[in-house]
Amino acid sequence: MLYFNKYAKGNNMSSKVTVFGSFVVDLMARTPHLPVPAETVKGSLFKMGAGGKGFNQCVAAHKAGADVTMVTKMGRDSFANVALDVMDELGMPKDHIFFNEKDATGIALILVDEGSSQNEIVIVPGACATITKEDTDSIEELIRESEYVLLQLEVNQDANERVIDCAWKNGTKVILNTAPYSPVSDECLSKVYMVTPNEVEAEEMTGVKVDSLEAAKEAAAVFRQKGVQKVVITLGSRGVFISADGREEIVPCFRVDAVDTTGAGDAFNGGFLTALAEGKDEWEAAKFASALAAISVTRMGTTPSMPTRTEVDAFLNEH
Ligand code: ATP
Ligand code: RIB
Repeated sequence: MLYFNKYAKGNNMSSKVTVFGSFVVDLMARTPHLPVPAETVKGSLFKMGAGGKGFNQCVAAHKAGADVTMVTKMGRDSFANVALDVMDELGMPKDHIFFNEKDATGIALILVDEGSSQNEIVIVPGACATITKEDTDSIEELIRESEYVLLQLEVNQDANERVIDCAWKNGTKVILNTAPYSPVSDECLSKVYMVTPNEVEAEEMTGVKVDSLEAAKEAAAVFRQKGVQKVVITLGSRGVFISADGREEIVPCFRVDAVDTTGAGDAFNGGFLTALAEGKDEWEAAKFASALAAISVTRMGTTPSMPTRTEVDAFLNEH
């Protein structure tokens, strides 16, 4: 089936890309402070919305104009409709959504401190951690047709490994957002084109504490030894470190008044993927993705905070 992305810019040539990953429903509460164990805190706001790192990244890319397909798994329940309704509203292709007939759609409990905007998250992946071999076998053609496939670590890792293998065999470039951290084998990493950890995940994966430019370079070298070609380490409000084609620098982020940084990494990854698919180099892509992420942190929520392409372009013109 042919889809037209209503957010695409007419003059942008973009290759096809796939996001393979989680969908969960985010149940978010804002609170005067994050509770300590055994403490109950009266919150000030509750919001339910679409979430999961995979889904957030795909929506970010779609609204930024990418020719992107989401692959995930949901239950047959009302929480699945939260995603399906968003996909209908945004005009996203739904033909690679799998359903688990007995397990429930996943959820994430998110607490956001209204002062510091720091968060605490518990995720129960549910159906999206039950992706079978039959499911992954059925997307081989989609992976083959894609220039990039972007994955995270929220679904069952055996499924991620099969998709990475398939991409490797078909010459599709794999971008692995190593969030939330869980171990990834060296064999699997050797098939990854680019990793996009945050600084904590970079330390967990390489053993190098990323607290300076030199340390970031050291962590990138460890990834390269494992066969990864390009390394992108997001550093929160300090920007992003890029190691690509012999050039290693930090690209600063845009200064904004952040109200909720949950999903900033997802916004960045979705924006980065979009820009790479348009043929931009890593430095231009980092600027585009930083703008997209900066807008997203000025808004509440994860998927609902992703800006449109028109908003990102206007922001870049102003800054
Ligand atoms: P999360 O797990 O909450 O999704 P993350 O840890 O994966 O986030 P970060 O490194 O915090 O990701 O942020 C990703 C990118 O978002 C940064 O590189 C930066 O460009 C942008 N960003 C994050 N926080 C801010 C902020 N306060 N102001 C502007 N931009 C920000
Ligand atoms: O990165 C933010 C996401 O992480 C949230 O949407 C939540 O679902 C958790 O998976």
